[in-house]
Amino acid sequence: MTQPAAAWTALEAAARKDGATRIVDHFKAEPDRLERLVVDACGLRLDLSKQPWSRAGLAAALALAGAAGVEAARERMFSGQAINVTEGRAVLHMALRAPDGAAFHAEGRPVSRGVETVRARIYAFAEAVRSGEIRGATGKAFRTIVHIGIGGSDLGPRLVWRALKPLEPAIDLRFVGNVDPADVAQALAGLDPETTLVVAVSKTFTTQETMANAFAARTWLREALGPKADGHLAAASTNLPACAAFGIAADRVFGFEDWVGGRYSVMSAVGLSCAIALGRVAFEDLLAGAAAMDDHFRAAPLATNAPVMLALAHVFNRNGLGRPMRVVEPYAERLGLLANYLQQLEMESNGKRVTLGGEPVGRATAAAVFGNAGTNDQHAFFQMLHQGADIIPVDFVAVARSAEGPPRQQTILLANAIAQAEALMTGKANAAEPHRDFPGDRPSSFILMDQLTPHALGALIALYEHKVFVEGVLWDIDSFDQWGVELGKSLAGKVLAELEGGEPDAHDPSTAALIRRLRE
Ligand code: F6P
Repeated sequence: MTQPAAAWTALEAAARKDGATRIVDHFKAEPDRLERLVVDACGLRLDLSKQPWSRAGLAAALALAGAAGVEAARERMFSGQAINVTEGRAVLHMALRAPDGAAFHAEGRPVSRGVETVRARIYAFAEAVRSGEIRGATGKAFRTIVHIGIGGSDLGPRLVWRALKPLEPAIDLRFVGNVDPADVAQALAGLDPETTLVVAVSKTFTTQETMANAFAARTWLREALGPKADGHLAAASTNLPACAAFGIAADRVFGFEDWVGGRYSVMSAVGLSCAIALGRVAFEDLLAGAAAMDDHFRAAPLATNAPVMLALAHVFNRNGLGRPMRVVEPYAERLGLLANYLQQLEMESNGKRVTLGGEPVGRATAAAVFGNAGTNDQHAFFQMLHQGADIIPVDFVAVARSAEGPPRQQTILLANAIAQAEALMTGKANAAEPHRDFPGDRPSSFILMDQLTPHALGALIALYEHKVFVEGVLWDIDSFDQWGVELGKSLAGKVLAELEGGEPDAHDPSTAALIRRLRE
């Protein structure tokens, strides 16, 4: 078998060669290009034919996946080995969405029954809140949930709610993430404490921002409702003692285990607020979509494996062609938070520069990812995509059919998505007027789903989760730790003590001056 180092060299050489040919010319040279580079999986169609690889370039990328041991690594993950080596943990978010009766093990310990027990409790609680069987302290049904959490305890539920929220929800959902007091103030503004359920979500239940916001919301409830206010609290966490210490009744605490990474946790108890506000059926469909993608990822050969192919397209651009940024652009207003979600999933997972063994990776890792929703961004940053000095690959995500709004507007939306991808690739030469010259040859992937159903969203989330995993294997990094966030957290604690009048500590002159200024 080729060693990864040799396979990397071959990939880089192939990409250099392919980079000298325009993507449109690859189509001319490869009559079967479309059928080789369109992958269907779990209701999603991935068109990777507008990527810069030739047949030989793709072969080099697939050879790299083989040499890096993607298939064996995938099996280590699914079989519950502690592949998060720096934290000594298994990585098993797939167990969360496997149907009842699955048999996942974390480091040899069976976990699926435990997942099913919590899932059943979540559904029972969700249905009881929705039906009004569980009510607030004054006997009124809950009408609003305030979901408090940050990072992985926020971005996934926010994405899911915005994507699937009914036009007129029976139970509304508001989010508080930032410790900025304006965030919790705005979330609570206009709400009736008697009909508000506060769900505190934190894997650790120690995160500074979440604890401050949960404290503020609890105070708001207690001021209005007195001691009975605690019946308006629920939590999702791995830290059950801390939830109890906060005053949340045991039957309102929904646990999960440390083999669920924060940014992979939306289908655990972290999704509780969504399960309540969307209802059991939608939440089950979300899980089923992700489970279908898990099965596809585990079984499909590399060349027709959607997450693998998406990862290889990224690595081809990032490492083969030196492209440091990428855009994820859903042409679906409801998916407008996808890039925000992926910023944590991709950049917290793969924004690393040492290998599993602690050596320098020696090559580029995760690209910076951004995007909102088309068509709005066509009138914001797309100028740079078409004519900027950097080539920024794009993932277009589009939905064929929409059940809401004037039907023709959906057709207009789709026309724009397709036209942008075409324009980026083909360009339009104008030698006489350089300002009006479109160089083209700018790559994109096109992901198409039929309708934005919970099932399709679940499949899309799992597609990106496994893409990130494959990239981590290729780069030989730990995609499941996040040590890079720790230094800032601990310094914030020190600075806070000083801002609150504590003894000044040693700082660089700039930091010391800022602290002095705020203590004046
Ligand atoms: O930003 C660091 C981080 O640990 C993320 O990985 C995590 O999703 C977030 O903080 C929130 O953590 P918790 O769920 O423990 O509050």
